[in-house]
Amino acid sequence: MDGPLGLRNVGSNCSISDLDDFNLSRLLDKPRLNVERQRSFDERSLSELSIGLARAGLDHNDLSSPGARSGLNSPGSSARNSFEPHPMVADAWEALRKSIVYFRGQPVGTIAAVDHQSEEILNYDQVFVRDFVPSALAFLMNGEPDIVKNFLLKTLYLQGWEKRIDRFKLGEGAMPASFKVLHDPVRKTDTLMADFGESAIGRVAPVDSGFWWIILLRAYTKSTGDLSLAETPECQKGMRLILSLCLSEGFDTFPTLLCADGCSMIDRRMGIYGYPIEIQALFFMALRCALSMLKDDAEGKEFIERIVKRLHALSYHMRSYFWLDFQQLNVIYRYKTEEYSHTAVNKFNVIPDSIPEWVFDFMPTRGGYFIGNVSPARMDFRWFVLGNCVAILSSLATPEQSMAIMDLIEARWDELVGEMPLKISYPAIESHEWRIVTGCDPKNTRWSYHNGGSWPVLLWLLTAACIKTGRPQIARRAIELAENRLLKDGWPEYYDGKLGRYIGKQARKYQTWSIAGYLVAKMMLEDPSHLGMISLEEDRHMRPVIKRSSSWTC
Ligand code: GLC
Repeated sequence: MDGPLGLRNVGSNCSISDLDDFNLSRLLDKPRLNVERQRSFDERSLSELSIGLARAGLDHNDLSSPGARSGLNSPGSSARNSFEPHPMVADAWEALRKSIVYFRGQPVGTIAAVDHQSEEILNYDQVFVRDFVPSALAFLMNGEPDIVKNFLLKTLYLQGWEKRIDRFKLGEGAMPASFKVLHDPVRKTDTLMADFGESAIGRVAPVDSGFWWIILLRAYTKSTGDLSLAETPECQKGMRLILSLCLSEGFDTFPTLLCADGCSMIDRRMGIYGYPIEIQALFFMALRCALSMLKDDAEGKEFIERIVKRLHALSYHMRSYFWLDFQQLNVIYRYKTEEYSHTAVNKFNVIPDSIPEWVFDFMPTRGGYFIGNVSPARMDFRWFVLGNCVAILSSLATPEQSMAIMDLIEARWDELVGEMPLKISYPAIESHEWRIVTGCDPKNTRWSYHNGGSWPVLLWLLTAACIKTGRPQIARRAIELAENRLLKDGWPEYYDGKLGRYIGKQARKYQTWSIAGYLVAKMMLEDPSHLGMISLEEDRHMRPVIKRSSSWTC
């Protein structure tokens, strides 16, 4: 049956939200798995996927049943929860509210940092799309959706601008990295100013912005049950424009999305050009979210078909070639090179000598992760937290892979969490390699900022991944660490050092997403039903036939 969004409830009367709840409670009691690497995917079961059946994500019922709101409330809202909140929670809400930006009297976003001590403002006085995501989730979880709706509409309006860098016109669908509200006290008018990369340091393209926009539109819809926003012709068009940018045909031989360096949260040269996991995971998640919201009408139909095909190829590619665990590392270590033809085992001609030393020690016997990048003769073995957590949340990772990612985080706790959750990437790049890869960037010296720095904002992603995999105790441990320091240190943007003990050398204080990330983590842990707005259950049609280990109990 088609719902108002043109979404079919395929083969079941059970809405996805019911399934979410069912799976969640099942996952919460599930014993830890003994994960076995599965290298061979059953291609037949994948190729049997029919376009009509593969529409993943939400259905109408799902969208119209808002998840139970959190009882955890901020100062200024009505109900109170039954738990005694940590004293930091009230401070965090106060700081988050101070970061709200208004446009003609309406709240439209949150400023990146409210740091009055910092001499250099740069662009920290702007509303960043990616930075607003944890703020938005905090407001949604607290039953305050208006600011999120206003933000979605304002950024959609900005997408409609003609965007130029020098004499070059940017793609129509590009979403801004950030925007600013200019208040004219004399004329008493507000105007908007946006940055699509044309002012950004290094002129980097915010590829993640459009994906976060789609993901947030789904979170808003799922949390409020308000279908009308996603259904508007404007939102439908906005989604289609973003999708046109990333689904266009080119010279690609892979289904992954080719990107320039600095295209995500890591918005400086850090050697993540090519097919960075951070973008591939967001790409996958945004495609699944768009699929659940696009109307199956004359304009949407074509996109739906393209998305389904791409998801199919992308999940196969990522699960097969980006996945690394002990066994696969051993396979790569023994690779033959210079193989020609479709029978090649070492398809990308990776030279085993290029495997860095650290990865042999880092890899636990049990556990695994999606590596940073895969392209011809180049595997970036670095571990990136955002990509791996989003892979869990979007179900790009199979349940076995999700468990393995969590096993690795536990096994390498000191390296990845240390004294402050959570390393953005591991390990840091040092010496000569740092010179080449970063272009001698003094902000990205080893174990600082994007180069192995620890970012409190990432706590919300870790917590969401922990809840989804039934491992809330890991999140609790991480939150406790953050509670030892964050408020006392004035909510820094990032920490430095191998253990994340030092406040980052150029870190802003009162960094909004550090504050919001903490609140979201707390609220999700107290009411795991919030997870539904930012998580997608596995699409069973995309599931390869996998030999399960005997400890898997369904
Ligand atoms: C830095 C971060 C980027 C963030 C921005 C605003 O540039 O690298 O991810 O969006 O600051 O906080």
